[in-house]
Amino acid sequence: MLTQAFSFSCDARCSHTQARAGTFTTPHGPVHTPRFMPVGTLANVKTVTPAQLATTGAQMVLSNTYHLHLQPGEDIVAEAGGLHRFMGWDGPMLTDSGGFQVFSLSQMRTITEDGVTFKSPKDGRIINIRPETSIQIQNDLGADVIMAFDECPPYPCSRETIKASTDRTWRWLQRCVEAHKRPDQALFGIVQGGVYPDLRTEAAQQLATLDLPGYAIGGVSVGEPPELIETIVKATAPCLPEHKPRYLMGVGTYREMAQAIAAGVDLFDCVIPTRLARHGAALVAGERWNIKNQRFRRDYTPIDADCPCYTCQNFTRAYLCHLIHAKEMLAFTLISIHNITELVRFTQRIREAILGDRFTTEFAHWLTPNPIATT
Ligand code: GUN
Ligand code: ZN
Repeated sequence: MLTQAFSFSCDARCSHTQARAGTFTTPHGPVHTPRFMPVGTLANVKTVTPAQLATTGAQMVLSNTYHLHLQPGEDIVAEAGGLHRFMGWDGPMLTDSGGFQVFSLSQMRTITEDGVTFKSPKDGRIINIRPETSIQIQNDLGADVIMAFDECPPYPCSRETIKASTDRTWRWLQRCVEAHKRPDQALFGIVQGGVYPDLRTEAAQQLATLDLPGYAIGGVSVGEPPELIETIVKATAPCLPEHKPRYLMGVGTYREMAQAIAAGVDLFDCVIPTRLARHGAALVAGERWNIKNQRFRRDYTPIDADCPCYTCQNFTRAYLCHLIHAKEMLAFTLISIHNITELVRFTQRIREAILGDRFTTEFAHWLTPNPIATT
């Protein structure tokens, strides 16, 4: 049944790299890859309505098991008719398992073979999440794609620690597969292995034997030098099944996405576009511009004259600069709409380039090592 609800087909391949353009079919519609996915942590993409989100070109939207379990609780989301109905997004959705968030956001946590225990930062109650719990919560939430409960170690970490954690993630994955009850949801496995290419390769080969509907590369963007991301992805992606979608978790910068796409990755997510927007920063052609800057006070042009988004079609830099200075919340909405559109469009343009076999020529700038650190 799993294979009926979900499929991944390759629409075109790049003749110079491992890049592919694909279509991932879910019960809530297709996802054309490569594609950037915006993050809606607490069942909303911060400051953006679903109707506005739809205009950005976003297809699949991400939400978080960890946050929704703490509030309002998966029982309420389930009673409301599931995540799609609860938040008013009828397109494809994905929930992260909580693995990463437990490790990055909670204090007083203890990790055992059984699972993770931590103190809720919301109300101080002690919470236990096991692989089975994460899957049950995600079954209740009802996203199209759910993620395996994994252990995401920090950086730097010794090889021994990473090896032990990767092995545990593998055992937890088998428990997740066992616990998963809904054939209308696709369970993706997550490859860990830190910055050690041989551990990555081994973990990817191990996961591939399970024939899951999709695979993710986790444990990146945890503080390692950005150049290492490409090395990690190149050691992992080729070992994952060719006919399944590949998702690089937590990565949404231009260069890292382009290089990962060249290594065969299809999906990305990152809080960057909405987080930057709340700091008054707009993404323009790979750069971050602070729209609050006085130089925009009398600038009556759009953020980006070439951008088709609602914000660039209707508002000027001067207006956005004014809204930020006046502390008006509309500023965050409008800049978020632009930033999400910009990153989704970057991946859409790469898709178009792959379809025309022009990827390496059109995106040469992003496929080379970073000359200076920007985005
Ligand atoms: N988001 C970013 N990185 C990770 C990871 O390694 N695991 C999970 N579950 N989510 C992530
Ligand atoms: Zn725009």
